[in-house]
Amino acid sequence: MKQLRKIEQVIEPQYVIEGAGVLLQRSFGPKVSNLFDPFLLFDHFAFNDPLEGPIRGFPTHPHRGIETVTYMLEGQVRHRDSLGNAGEIGPGAVQWMTSGRGILHEEMPQRGPNGVIYGFQLWVNLPARLKMSQPRYQEIGGGTIPSIEKDGVTVKVVAGDYQGVGGPATEIAAQPVYMEVQLEAGREFEIDIPRGHTTLAYVFEGAGDFLNGETGGGERVPAVRMVKFADGDALKVRAAEDQHMRFMLIAGAPFGEPIAPYGPFVMNTQEEIRQALTDLRSGTFVS
Ligand code: CO
Repeated sequence: MKQLRKIEQVIEPQYVIEGAGVLLQRSFGPKVSNLFDPFLLFDHFAFNDPLEGPIRGFPTHPHRGIETVTYMLEGQVRHRDSLGNAGEIGPGAVQWMTSGRGILHEEMPQRGPNGVIYGFQLWVNLPARLKMSQPRYQEIGGGTIPSIEKDGVTVKVVAGDYQGVGGPATEIAAQPVYMEVQLEAGREFEIDIPRGHTTLAYVFEGAGDFLNGETGGGERVPAVRMVKFADGDALKVRAAEDQHMRFMLIAGAPFGEPIAPYGPFVMNTQEEIRQALTDLRSGTFVS
């Protein structure tokens, strides 16, 4: 029988300041304990008081050994990097950036027409064999993300597969599922996720019950929370009777390797971190 995944942990995102003074809500960040393997970080930027003035953004900084995934709902992020890539990640769009051995880039969030910036950044680990690979970008326009709408359920598939529809982000080592799920009040969503894969849900609007399969019961989670699930075969959730629910579904295969996090680098050993810093100082970080 199919076993539904039960809630293991509910995390209340904490405010942190990053870059040149950007206020974020962070659910988790890179730690040696690697509890969310293969995921390293999840940040939510949604700070939208125009009285705050211009958003200061993330001036040029390096990455090595990871993938950063930027998903914008409103506003945009202007980016520019050491490979000569430049552009904008607009509303509904995704940038899946595989840093491999190294990139230097800047990321500058801009308010949308109504003054709002709203988006997420997920960091996905790379396995040891790919940490020093060539950098790679997947720029995914909003129009190329499949949206499956049925019976009050809308699923936008960035990566992974839902009802036979695959997302545009492909060839990712962590075999990720990354989807935005929107449920009208009282509606249900269910998806199979392979056993052993880390499974998370970031509930950012409304509320719903994650069903545990026993007597049809579940556990209510309101926005804004990050939920980590225990192992199982499938995830099933029902929006509250009186409100909608919107969440990011995040799942992937853990690598089971030790990690050495250091700011924007995540390697496997301290020696590799020292090498990254040496390369940065000597100007050989970006080949
Ligand atoms: Co960055």
